[in-house]
Amino acid sequence: MSRNQSQLPRPFVYAGMILLVLAMIPPAVIAYARATHSPLPRIQLQQDMGVQNRFDTQQANPMFRDGRAMRPRVSGTVARGHLREDEHYYDGIVGDDWADTIPIQIEVDRAFLERGRERYDIFCAICHGVAGFGDGMVHERAQELVESGRHGTVWVPPTSMHTREVREKPIGELFHVITHGARNMAGYASQIPVEDRWAIAAYVQAMQISQHADEEGDS
Ligand code: HEC
Repeated sequence: MSRNQSQLPRPFVYAGMILLVLAMIPPAVIAYARATHSPLPRIQLQQDMGVQNRFDTQQANPMFRDGRAMRPRVSGTVARGHLREDEHYYDGIVGDDWADTIPIQIEVDRAFLERGRERYDIFCAICHGVAGFGDGMVHERAQELVESGRHGTVWVPPTSMHTREVREKPIGELFHVITHGARNMAGYASQIPVEDRWAIAAYVQAMQISQHADEEGDS
């Protein structure tokens, strides 16, 4: 082994090694910061507008008479895009009656009905049954529990889509039931977007027609 390096004075060698190790720290810190996430605000050497006093949710603010920092919505205001004045589209109502038609802004084609079938199978079939006879899995299970006498005595069965009463419902009323629910059935406005609700209503009608094609000849 050559002894060349020992020709440098020892302290120089040690100082050089220490500097080398120290020089590796900043790049290591930067590499670490770039590769990881932190919920903390970044360090600002020169603070900008992001750093200033502010009120958090539910805090008090003496500037207002009611002392609340969170201001209530000015009554009568409507968020952009939330006016919903189209009663036909949003509520299934035309004038004073249930709508008989699907709103014109909706394009009714095969894909629309397929979508309705898919959504029905996801959201409704569990109770109303795949073919709409009110014999879904939830119903069967609830019926079993009620009959066993161990879990209550009351179960309101999901309505069959094929009773005369439901078949006579205009599409607007079906849409309304899906949107707001009916008696023991909850509404689905928060889970299912407007257009999908129309698709389901259209699919329910298609299902009804398919089950009663012969009897009424209205297919
Ligand atoms: C958790 C079970 C459940 C689900 C899911 C469900 N329903 Fe119902 N539905 C019911 C029950 C129960 C009734 C009967 C309510 C009553 O008579 O009190 C009912 C009633 C109805 C009626 C008749 C309303 C009337 O005015 O007579 C229609 C139409 C209907 N459901 C459509 C749907 C559609 C479409 C979906 C899917 C978006 C759906 N339901 C999802 C349980 C359900």
